[in-house]
Amino acid sequence: MEEVSFSPKCQQMKRVLIIGATGGIGSALADAHVSQGWSVEGLSRKDGLDLKDPASIEHVLHTTQGPFDRLLVATGTLGSEHRPPEKSLSQIQAQSMSDQFAINTIGPALILRHAGRLLVRDRLGLVAVLSARVGSIGDNRLGGWHSYRASKAALNQILRGASIELARSHRQLVALSLHPGTVATPFTAQYAARYPTVPPAEAAENLMAVMDRARPGDTGRFLDWSGAEVPW
Ligand SMILES: NC(=O)c1ccc[n+]([C@@H]2O[C@H](COP(=O)([O-])OP(=O)(O)OC[C@H]3O[C@@H](n4cnc5c(N)ncnc54)[C@H](OP(=O)(O)O)[C@@H]3O)[C@@H](O)[C@H]2O)c1
Repeated sequence: MEEVSFSPKCQQMKRVLIIGATGGIGSALADAHVSQGWSVEGLSRKDGLDLKDPASIEHVLHTTQGPFDRLLVATGTLGSEHRPPEKSLSQIQAQSMSDQFAINTIGPALILRHAGRLLVRDRLGLVAVLSARVGSIGDNRLGGWHSYRASKAALNQILRGASIELARSHRQLVALSLHPGTVATPFTAQYAARYPTVPPAEAAENLMAVMDRARPGDTGRFLDWSGAEVPW
């Protein structure tokens, strides 16, 4: 385990900023942090932050005061009622794919633009995006869900690049892509019947354990809910 220096400020209440704190996993992560004594700030569309509107991201994050010990991006979409995830190449539609990238990739990337300013530099810090195992290229054995898979693969690349860049200014920062498992939330309501799910609170506890164990040497990794490496 690596040595991590703790300043006197660490005795203060730690702060986490959760983007997407209204979501199934995001709200469970908020609850899990509160129960561990953290100060939690959540941002969502209710606060005017719409991932499909870059100006709204800039505006809301510019008015958000750091520093935070953690920045978590818990937003995402799998499709919509009218545009479910593709089962085949023939179902790919430009607008639907563009929407997936706007919410799952470009929005989080625009949030990460602010990570350096928002996160602590003098002690252990963490930034994590909720990715998905199906975003793994190496693990793709089923095909389908082309837009969602591709948007998460691209998100993983953005996170990896961010981890390298942020390590230059934030030596004690850990940047992670996290797969939460298959979780019973509105996100999976139409698709999870065929798969065993865990409740959001359990997923949040799992992710908390992974984040609590993470150290700067882990930065840039793609980990699942148990802390196991997911292939890119
Ligand atoms: N659930 C699973 O089994 C599972 C598995 C693998 C990965 N994940 C990933 O985990 C993340 C969270 O999933 P979840 O299950 O918690 O989903 P969820 O309950 O549907 O929550 C989605 C969150 O994303 C936000 N969001 C969607 N579109 C947005 C937009 N245009 N602008 C701002 N916020 C927007 C929602 O905000 P509003 O409240 O404003 O709608 C909500 O906070 C996603 O990235 C997903 O890919 C989930």
